[in-house]
Amino acid sequence: MARLKLGILFSGRGTNLQALLDATADPAFPAETALALANRPDAGGLKRAAGAGVPAQVIDHKRYPDRPTFETALTEALTAAGVELVCLAGFMRLLTPNFVNRWAGKAINIHPSLLPAFPGLNTHARAIEAGVRFAGATVHFLSTEMDAGPIILQAATPILPTDDADILAARVLRAEHEIYIRAVRWIAEGRVRIENGRVHVADVTDDAAYYLPAGQRPV
Ligand code: GRF
Repeated sequence: MARLKLGILFSGRGTNLQALLDATADPAFPAETALALANRPDAGGLKRAAGAGVPAQVIDHKRYPDRPTFETALTEALTAAGVELVCLAGFMRLLTPNFVNRWAGKAINIHPSLLPAFPGLNTHARAIEAGVRFAGATVHFLSTEMDAGPIILQAATPILPTDDADILAARVLRAEHEIYIRAVRWIAEGRVRIENGRVHVADVTDDAAYYLPAGQRPV
């Protein structure tokens, strides 16, 4: 069966990109990386893409007069590569309805919090400051509102009294890598549908749907 073609957009070091590259390197995984696309020529993830031997491209937003022309260039590159699902992986540009509507239901993002809590930047410091006991990560469909959109999968991780933002970020990041691959697999297997703004996934066991510390699984 044909594998779903991914376009992975990133801006920085690219550990989520790496997780997707590793997963898609396995021919048995139901998706493949058709294009790795950075908006910064110095994005560390470009080396990862080269290492994986996947097609990679830089579309530098600074070379475009405005967001619509930049986004048109993104869409042209993604379309030319035959991309069927756009995966934002630490892509640090806001995307306008121009792009979001073009890829409606075909673009997903990962965010390092349990959305709708703590959208935007500095999520870990804000979670610690708020005193919440759980942090986590969310994979969701893109919507015109930042870090919103129908939730596909979440992972919960504890916030320990000794955590600072960096320690917490590292713990959450490990969960991000796991759930991003899992969400892509579900979509590639055709098991994900959006209904009234909520995501339904066919044939998911509790173990696959929840990432919680031992003893916290639903009973
Ligand atoms: C991740 O925490 C991701 O959730 C957020 O940006 C960070 C990117 O990290 N959107 P990396 O480049 O994937 O390592």
